[in-house]
Amino acid sequence: MKTNKKVKLSVKNLSKVYDNESMNAIDDVSFDVYDGEFLSILGPSGCGKSTIIKILIGLVPPTSGQIFKDDQDITNLKISKRGMGMVFQNYALFENMTVRQNIEFALKTNKNTKQTAKEVTSTLLEKMHLQELEDKKPNLLSGGQQQRVAIARTLALNPDVILFDEPMSALDASTRLELCAEIKHVQKEFKTTIIYITHDQEEAFSLSDRIMVMSPAKIAQIGTPSQILSRPANKYVKSFVCDNISKKIDSLNKIMEKKK
Ligand SMILES: Nc1ncnc2c1ncn2[C@@H]1O[C@H](COP(=O)(O)OP(=O)(O)OP(=O)(O)O)[C@@H](O)[C@H]1O
Ligand SMILES: [Mg+2]
Repeated sequence: MKTNKKVKLSVKNLSKVYDNESMNAIDDVSFDVYDGEFLSILGPSGCGKSTIIKILIGLVPPTSGQIFKDDQDITNLKISKRGMGMVFQNYALFENMTVRQNIEFALKTNKNTKQTAKEVTSTLLEKMHLQELEDKKPNLLSGGQQQRVAIARTLALNPDVILFDEPMSALDASTRLELCAEIKHVQKEFKTTIIYITHDQEEAFSLSDRIMVMSPAKIAQIGTPSQILSRPANKYVKSFVCDNISKKIDSLNKIMEKKK
């Protein structure tokens, strides 16, 4: 990722102490995300990953710090005014609605005409390869299909930043690979900026322009996958990320060779 790219989001000195807690969930975290970038956040359980993106989208107020989007201070804006979408691990679909209705619902609450909502939904169903499933209810879909619906529903509101909180952690390995490709495709097609939380080093290394490695409440390193692998900032990054991923890349290469 070149540094002359436009900054989309700028996070400045963000801290969060939850009510009745004494420890910081995040402690003075600052970083930029470039326009169109795929940034992964990688770190152990409880280090503050979800807290960061909940603050970015406005679900949780920060204790201190600021967020700028396109140079505008959005720290105190309503969720609906931030132009961001979020995809969760558990899909959060409406179980009583069909696939089409799940997507249309998002559009109907957004002052669109019925016709526009219908047309946009049809386009999204096609782009996310969901046409065949449009009349099904979510409980009849696989996890990967449900997650595609959740992504389509998020895209319906035309966000320029999408936040993913471990969207694949409930899926099996082959579905994850498919959905990885789909998310990359969405990023290219819709030119969205993506922040993507994962526990999974392989996912982070295969999807990202840059990776933000976190240690509890802090950023340990931000860099491209190759920068992190070749120059880990400290022992923590080396042992948490680099040693693991090197082993995995070796075994992945072996699998790919077998497939050839
Ligand atoms: N609503 C809350 N009230 C109090 N403490 C919270 C709340 N949400 C999170 N925390 C605490 O803040 C810290 C960071 O939590 P967070 O959910 O951001 O971590 P995470 O990196 O997303 O973890 P995981 O990988 O397990 O999802 C943890 O210590 C957690 O227990
Ligand atoms: Mg989390």
